[in-house]
Amino acid sequence: MANPPKVPFLDLVAPHSELRDELLAVVNKAFDTAGFIGGPMVEEFEREFAAFCHTKYCVGVNSGTDALRFAFIAAGIAEGDIVITVPNTFIATTEAISQAGASVTFVDIDERTYTMDPIRLRDYLENNCDYETATRKLIEPKSKKRVAAIVPVHLYGQTADMDPILELAQRFNLLVIEDACQAHGAEYYSEKDKVWKRAGSMGVAAAFSFYPGKNLGACGEGGAITTNDLTLAQRMKLIRDHGQAKKYYHDIEGYNGRLDSIQAGWLAVKLRHLDEWNESRRSLAHRYNQLLGELKDSMILPIESTWTKGVFHLYVVRVQDREAFQTFLGDAGIGTGIHYPVPLHLQRAYGHMGYQPGDFPVTEQVARQIVSLPMFPQMTQEQQDEVVANISEFIASRLAVRPELPVS
Ligand SMILES: Cc1ncc(COP(=O)(O)O)c(C=O)c1O
Repeated sequence: MANPPKVPFLDLVAPHSELRDELLAVVNKAFDTAGFIGGPMVEEFEREFAAFCHTKYCVGVNSGTDALRFAFIAAGIAEGDIVITVPNTFIATTEAISQAGASVTFVDIDERTYTMDPIRLRDYLENNCDYETATRKLIEPKSKKRVAAIVPVHLYGQTADMDPILELAQRFNLLVIEDACQAHGAEYYSEKDKVWKRAGSMGVAAAFSFYPGKNLGACGEGGAITTNDLTLAQRMKLIRDHGQAKKYYHDIEGYNGRLDSIQAGWLAVKLRHLDEWNESRRSLAHRYNQLLGELKDSMILPIESTWTKGVFHLYVVRVQDREAFQTFLGDAGIGTGIHYPVPLHLQRAYGHMGYQPGDFPVTEQVARQIVSLPMFPQMTQEQQDEVVANISEFIASRLAVRPELPVS
């Protein structure tokens, strides 16, 4: 049998072992009441997660993908609409747009933050679209479609630069729906409002994933939508439950997209630890920055802009010779990942969109170089030292070449 990794990419056993009794109590409660779907455990978690995100409402759903899809549908996004997002994200972002009936348009990311570049967004809105003042509609003449919404993705646990994105959305009458699936608890400093804001509280709605490996993960599938808009929240509740507010009375066709009560109960237990776990991720990330600082000429470390307080869902570096880097670390028992190896516009699933290599050069360049290092709240300093020692050894073992896109 293969030896267990010295440093796993992610340890999902430790956090659950620590909370075993509390988590099992949730199962017992569900068994005692046979309350498996909906009910008080879901409602309690929704209240607590809304408070955590500084929003008025939270609607628990089956996954982050459902959260995005239901948010789009509830916000009225439909066939004939264009939704703008980035090509450097998980495919769920664009699947949900397509499944709501809309078309996807990409704008490239910022090379330093890996999130939507507001300058490229402005360029697309100003130069590729016509704004009809009378109807307050933004039309893309090429497709004659209405541009309806922007989906910034708070990738790797860091928020997108929301002030300029929200300002553009207001100017062109567009909705902003945040993909906060990797950013539970991340914060953004709004220079405009002079206040720190939580991921999930800045758009008209936001989607969260509780996939087990996320900063707040269920013990299975789960997701949530946050919003300050009561009408939207009510519509999302209908959509997640076959369009019914009262059993067997269907106002609309919906989906089976509810959050299980056992998952909600587990999430409520884990939510109490989330701030502390996020702090631990931040400290580990800062320690990585410090320890890897000497290797700055051979790798690009993550940059935390002054306007974001990231929660480091992932700690992503960029290296020149990624395959050899991953093999070296893998042989030393250290897990790594790539988020994501193929930009969405170049995925086979989107071949019909006609994008070509070179269309989004920053995303493409980044996708060739990124590696996610081990990152989880229970990682010990010894484990982290082991990762850093092996990276140093790898770099010393070859004449490292500067990455193609040095950070200014
Ligand atoms: C950025 C992003 N969006 C959406 C999703 C979809 O979430 P889920 O897997 O819960 O459907 C994920 C999950 O990996 C994600 O990372």
